[in-house]
Parts: sequence; structure tokens; C-alpha cells
Amino acid sequence: MRWCRGEDPIVAKPVATATSGGASVILALSASPEAIAGHETQVMKPVDKPGRRTNEPNPVIREFSRVAEQYDRRWSFYVQATTRETMARLSIGVDDRVLDVGCGTGVLLYQIGQRYPQARLAGVDPVAEMLGVARRRLPDGTDLRQGWVEHLPWDDSRFDVVVSCNMFHYIRQPLAALGEMARVLRPGGRLLITDWCDDYLACRVCDWYLRLFSPAHFKVYRRSECLNLLKQGGYPEASVEGYRISWLWGLMTATATKHAA
Ligand SMILES: C[S@@+](CC[C@H](N)C(=O)[O-])C[C@H]1O[C@@H](n2cnc3c(N)ncnc32)[C@H](O)[C@@H]1O
Repeated sequence: MRWCRGEDPIVAKPVATATSGGASVILALSASPEAIAGHETQVMKPVDKPGRRTNEPNPVIREFSRVAEQYDRRWSFYVQATTRETMARLSIGVDDRVLDVGCGTGVLLYQIGQRYPQARLAGVDPVAEMLGVARRRLPDGTDLRQGWVEHLPWDDSRFDVVVSCNMFHYIRQPLAALGEMARVLRPGGRLLITDWCDDYLACRVCDWYLRLFSPAHFKVYRRSECLNLLKQGGYPEASVEGYRISWLWGLMTATATKHAA
């Protein structure tokens, strides 16, 4: 397993980026009741690998707790472009229950709420500081919880739609993550994942670089790899679309439906 170095990682992503680390995991564990007041919240202990408890700082928490307050402004082009492309591919019923996994500062959930005011929105993210920004942005009824995709803090079949944007390249156990997303989806429910795409040269170069220098980063997938993962994860009819959001940067959006029982 790759792990934190004793200094901030140096990161160079072209239009968006993972960033520096530094804040202790203690911050996430000690999120004050005031900070989470008024919201249904479950706090899970940080894990480096799901299932293994540790007191070492988690690199994802280190990285995003540091940048949470600047995140939207610093990567506004990237956040706007990726959420726009995700929204363009998302189909939501009037009062669907929608979960955003790795919701970060809540930009995508906000846009879903604007377009589908009756949708029931939920989000999960391991980083208290990112959730803090999301809470300020989103209506009180939004079900925001602190947790990891590998152990989603909801019952089976709870959602009609599970969506994730710019999160998949941080996951250490992609099949476990897909399994959890499937578990909380109802039969017939829809999954949509947008992330970087390793078929584009710029993403590939960044992936190499970040694997070496950013402990939070894990892996960027090609379309074919993503499709294989989805098939192994129980979505035989998944599809993956690749596209550019700038002359340099390419994304992919995977869509799939959970088989009716
Ligand atoms: C680049 S940000 C994207 C945030 C948001 N989805 C967006 O598009 O603006 C990646 C987010 O994924 C979260 N994340 C990383 N690893 C995760 C995991 N294993 N489970 C859930 N969320 C995770 C991070 O905390 C961070 O908020």
C-alpha cells in the first residue's frame, strides 16, 4: 500500500487536481457536534484499507481536509465541467432517492436539487471539511454522512440512483466499492460514474506522476478497464463513454442499471 510521506505531496494536475496533504486525521474524527448539527450524520473511523482500522493519517483525509475551503474556487473550471457533463448524462425521476458518493463540497448534489427539486438527496464523503462546505451549500433535509464508499452507511436498496463524480481514481478496492454501490441501489436502480480517463494522454501522464507523488491518488482507468470492472461488479450491460472537456483533458462516464431481482 502506498502511504503518506512526512511532507506535503507535490501535485500537478492540469485542470483539476488533487492537492497537498498535511491535516491530521484527528480533524475528521473530532468533527464537532455543532459542525454536524441538524444533519443526519454517521462518522466512521478512518481506514487505510476498508476493514483495517488504523491510527495513521489517511492520505485522502490529509489531502482534502487541507483544501476543502478553497476547493470550489481553485478548481472551478474542472468542477463545473465535470458536474455539467455528469448532469447531461443523468436521468432522475421526479422524487427519486439519489446518493452522491464522494460528494465533496456538494456541487453536483446542489445542481441535482436545482433541476429536480423533489428528489431526495444524500451524499457521503470521508472528509469532514468537504462535508462542512457541502452542508453550507445544501438544504437542511439533505442526508449527508461521513464515510467511505467501501462501507456505505445505508441499508440495502435505499436509492434509485447512485452517482459519483471525480472520485473513482482514489479508490483502493474498486470492486468492493462497486459492490457497495450496488448494495444500496434498488433493483432496477441506476449507477453513473464520471472520472478521469486513462485513454487520454494527459490523464495518463498525470496518473503516472500522481502514483509516484500523491499518496491519496490510486489509479486512473481506461474505458475498457472500467467496463471490465463494472462487468465483474455485477453490471453486465454497463456502458462507458469517453469525451474531452478541454483540448487536453478527457473524462469518461459509466452508466449501468442494477438487475431487477
Ligand atoms: C476530487 S474530489 C471530488 C468531489 C466531488 N465529487 C466533485 O466532483 O467536486 C474527490 C472526493 O472523493 C472523496 N473520496 C476519496 N476517496 C473516497 C472513498 N474511498 N470513499 C468515498 N469518498 C472518497 C474525497 O474525500 C473527495 O471529497
